[in-house]
Amino acid sequence: MKHFLTVVILGAAVVTLVSAASTDGAISFEYHRYEELRKALVSVWLQCPTITRIYTIGESFEGRELLVLEMSDNPGTHEPGEPEFKYIANMHGNEAVGRELLIYLAQYLCNQYQQGNETIIDLIHNTRIHLMPSMNPDGFEKAASQSGEIKDWFVGRSNAQGVDLNRNFPDLDRIIYINEREGGANNHLLQNMKKAVDENTKLAPETKAVIHWIMDIPFVLSANLHGGDVVANYPYDETRTGSTHEYSASPDDVMFKSLARAYSMYNPVMSDPHRAPCRKNDDDSSFKDGITNGGAWYSVPGGMQDFNYLSSNSFEITLELSCDKFPNEETLKSYWEQNRNSLVNYIEQVHRGVKGFIRDLQGNPISNATVSVEGIDHDITTAKDGDYWRLLAPGNYKVAASAPGYLTVIKKVAVPYSPATRVDFELESLMERKEEEREELMDWWKMMSETLNF
Ligand SMILES: *[C@@H]1O[C@H](CO)[C@@H](O)[C@H](O)[C@H]1NC(C)=O
Ligand SMILES: *[C@@H]1O[C@H](CO)[C@@H](O)[C@H](O)[C@H]1NC(C)=O
Ligand SMILES: [Zn+2]
Repeated sequence: MKHFLTVVILGAAVVTLVSAASTDGAISFEYHRYEELRKALVSVWLQCPTITRIYTIGESFEGRELLVLEMSDNPGTHEPGEPEFKYIANMHGNEAVGRELLIYLAQYLCNQYQQGNETIIDLIHNTRIHLMPSMNPDGFEKAASQSGEIKDWFVGRSNAQGVDLNRNFPDLDRIIYINEREGGANNHLLQNMKKAVDENTKLAPETKAVIHWIMDIPFVLSANLHGGDVVANYPYDETRTGSTHEYSASPDDVMFKSLARAYSMYNPVMSDPHRAPCRKNDDDSSFKDGITNGGAWYSVPGGMQDFNYLSSNSFEITLELSCDKFPNEETLKSYWEQNRNSLVNYIEQVHRGVKGFIRDLQGNPISNATVSVEGIDHDITTAKDGDYWRLLAPGNYKVAASAPGYLTVIKKVAVPYSPATRVDFELESLMERKEEEREELMDWWKMMSETLNF
């Protein structure tokens, strides 16, 4: 009897210990299958209904929803002047860590918000954050259905049609490399091509849904979470010459390095200079401080990262978060601990550079106006309310605002590391200018005729 009692008490103690080790507030560090993922997002929404919203951007090939949890003080609307941010994970269905980290991040942000954490409250009040834990839910189900602890390196990577989604985006690098040589647009390369995207039968439904999402929301910054290595990878991913390894700088190379660093520096494993390669034969020679240029590591045509930068205003990097693509459940908490500060700090990078509004002299917003920075051959454009965000590394810049039918205005701006410097522009329309000139001429004519007594 006594013996029995001891066992029961011991059993209870063990249970408490285990649950204490695997939860952190309301976070439960476990894998979430499709239905569990949905439930986890719904429970965040139920816990924090005023700052969250769940929506779907479409369906996978097998009909699973591509779910997004939005966090903002005004869920469901773009607030003029407030930048938008997104994380997408699990694009390769068998790369599972990022998927779980985004669920934990949602739970963490909701908990911290409720507990009054000023950093998190400020972040949610000043940013519209979109979290998509799984871009490839079909692939994940396939990977997760394998029996046993060890998962195959490839099973579930592609979508249900066998398409590798990170090779499936329109290859805009090839276009930008031609434009660099021969002249042509340096941004928004898919402009006016929505119909061509819809009619393209080579694009997987998951890819199409994400392309529409990128086109519809004025994202400023994003990251794509992968696994299989540990590094923050920045554009360009595809090399200019087509060779396998070649440093491929984008016009925003300085800022991209700074963004990638903003992630890696808070992850002790990623930034560890003595970290051994994930596998003995891996070539990590391009990794430095936990970051790498994509092309220098290995060339990737048709990836989502470069597509964001070349088709929209969004700067995107690719995060490799774990050597194992589908590690044991017991290790998930340690991945959260390694990445938590990085995940939050990276979102905060959206508040860097120059931001503001472009309006006409009457104060009407000018949407689709161009913001150019001298010396950086990559323009960004204003959103619907004339609001813009131009991510920039610290320095002194000449920033020009222009729009068809308006006189261009150039301003000198000093940019610190953060926060973003507010610079508004008021553009005079050429029509108004002509009207003013005509009136001046009329006045002059009237004066002359009076003087000369016609
Ligand atoms: C508030 O959130 C920040 C960012 O995640 C974190 O570094 C800090 O420790 C949190 N503060 C408290 C009191 O938990
Ligand atoms: C935005 O401006 C560009 C060129 O200035 C133009 O080609 C494009 O059609 C415009 N887009 C929209 C949605 O008005
Ligand atoms: Zn991947």
